[in-house]
Amino acid sequence: MAKTGSIPVTGLKRAVIFLGPPGAGKGTQAQEVARLYDVPHLSTGDMFRDHVGRGTPLGLKAKPIMERGELVPDEIVLGMVEERISRPDCKDGFVFDGFPRTLPQAEKLDQILGGLDFGRPVVLHFVVDSDQLVRRLTGRRTCKVGGEIYNVYVRPPKVPGRCDNDGGELMQRPDDREEVIHERLVAYERQTKPLVDYYHRQAVLQDVDGSADPEAVTQSVLRILTRAV
Ligand code: AP5
Repeated sequence: MAKTGSIPVTGLKRAVIFLGPPGAGKGTQAQEVARLYDVPHLSTGDMFRDHVGRGTPLGLKAKPIMERGELVPDEIVLGMVEERISRPDCKDGFVFDGFPRTLPQAEKLDQILGGLDFGRPVVLHFVVDSDQLVRRLTGRRTCKVGGEIYNVYVRPPKVPGRCDNDGGELMQRPDDREEVIHERLVAYERQTKPLVDYYHRQAVLQDVDGSADPEAVTQSVLRILTRAV
């Protein structure tokens, strides 16, 4: 059993969904929670960035869409996610970060989960005001090697431009330019926010105050998960 603070962490056996606007801290928290529960962290954004970096056909389709701050079409996302969660490392549960993001994605995920042994998902909705989101996104830097997330304002690395874990170079995401951030926030409001109601109606949604410091947010998330699993 892993332990964090005073909260014991046991087997997950669930699909956990991190829902919230760009910059809400989904990736930061999902990395930590997946590490503590020893399950995969499934970030559809990271999967697309990996395809873009390798220049695969899927990456070539996704790249211009991501650069505009729009959502990649559902059929592309769903094919990629179905393949990923069919792999053996997902048998004990997984943490979704940035998926689902549209109603059709959520409906399809319900169907998929219905065929697995996990019961209903746990959906954590990260609430942060929009001024904070923009500041977080413009300050974000990510390790090119391990993907660790930093922030020049609130979580700077010990050595500027280098990852504390592996010394990897830190980069700024192309979609973290202010004009693209605006488009991403618009896409969130139009296409993803309706999922808050969708999961609220299913009684599986829990709000998390994402504006607290990252360690306090982790503790809130773990408290919810230990009650739910
Ligand atoms: P994706 O990579 O999923 O981006 P996003 O949802 O816009 O979310 P972000 O990664 O920007 O933010 P986050 O909430 O993870 O915040 P983070 O923890 O990094 O998607 C990118 C693109 O891919 C989309 O625009 C779309 O085109 C495509 N895509 C992906 N999934 C898709 C899908 N399902 N359907 C269709 N298209 C899809 O934190 C941000 C910063 O804040 C960091 O610097 C961090 O250090 C800092 N921070 C974190 N927590 C705190 C805190 N508590 N206090 C202070 N600072 C904090």
